[in-house]
Amino acid sequence: MDIKLQINELEAQAYAELEGVASAAHLEEWRIRYLGKKSRLTEILRGLATLSIEERKTVGAVSNALKLGLEAALGQREASLRDGELALAVSKDAVDISLPGRPFARGHLHPVAQAMNEISSIFTAMGFEVMEGPGVEWDYYNFDMLNMPKEHPARAATDTFWIDAPPNDKGWKMLLRTHTSPMQVRTMERRRPPIRIVVPGLVHRYEATDATHLSMFSQIEGLAVDEGISMADLKGTLHEFARRFFGPERRVRFRCDFFPYVEPGAEMAVECAVCRGDGCRLCGGNGWIEVLGSGMVHPRVLEGVGIDSKKYSGFAFGMGIERIPLLKYGVEDIRHFYGSDLRFLRQF
Ligand code: PHE
Repeated sequence: MDIKLQINELEAQAYAELEGVASAAHLEEWRIRYLGKKSRLTEILRGLATLSIEERKTVGAVSNALKLGLEAALGQREASLRDGELALAVSKDAVDISLPGRPFARGHLHPVAQAMNEISSIFTAMGFEVMEGPGVEWDYYNFDMLNMPKEHPARAATDTFWIDAPPNDKGWKMLLRTHTSPMQVRTMERRRPPIRIVVPGLVHRYEATDATHLSMFSQIEGLAVDEGISMADLKGTLHEFARRFFGPERRVRFRCDFFPYVEPGAEMAVECAVCRGDGCRLCGGNGWIEVLGSGMVHPRVLEGVGIDSKKYSGFAFGMGIERIPLLKYGVEDIRHFYGSDLRFLRQF
């Protein structure tokens, strides 16, 4: 066969085969076959010397051109295979050096702490100061000074964790505070009006736990004492809080309630987020969710700390915190908040 024809055929065959080369090993086989020492092309090039001058010129030119062309194609193929194989290795071993590093898992505040902070900052924006008080408390502050003397029936309404310790020299007994209200007394003992404080903190009640009850939970207490404070201030302040926290479209409702340390006393309820007052599973069918207890500070409480109840008046409120994210997110069991299950907590 004519050498030039052979070269043309070789060329077509080499390029066609190169198309199908899919791995570095396969490419090496291809290189040996078309550019190796024993390849037909090398043979032709070696045999140029045996050809006539004219033939040597033409055959030499085409075969050399083919050699250069194949070498260039080989280089290109090598490069594109390297890229492809890298991608393949990545998908196999999951080590992609071009990916950014994995971000560190950073913690965040517990949902209850988030709610506490949010509520506190709404009140600080309204001129209240945040204070904290002891979780281990004297019955004197938790009950006596809140108009609940020793034999008062309201003492039994919340079962108390008593601390197994002898009473102090004044006969006060130690307990885990059952509410944050003792901080009303502690603050008024030390300060004169005007007073505007909120007190976030943990409280304990000796109760069985279930989906809606915890023996340890959080409250925020509020207290405002000044000249001329009225029930209208209480309603206005708490309504504004509800507007800012739950949104302006949620209605609030005040109803009479009883606490020995306020007169009159009121509970505030917020329209259920899900059914808007029609009644559903979340609100227990009545359309409203009670969020806090409140009232005008009882004159006896003011007099107890030496504040003239003719000159000064005040309002107080206390709200449970765990219920709020419970209601906001529709969590079905309040115990999740203290179960330390990260799968739960990471959702907030
Ligand atoms: N201490 C009450 C409770 O624990 C709430 C409350 C606080 C009510 C202040 C009136 C005034 O439920």
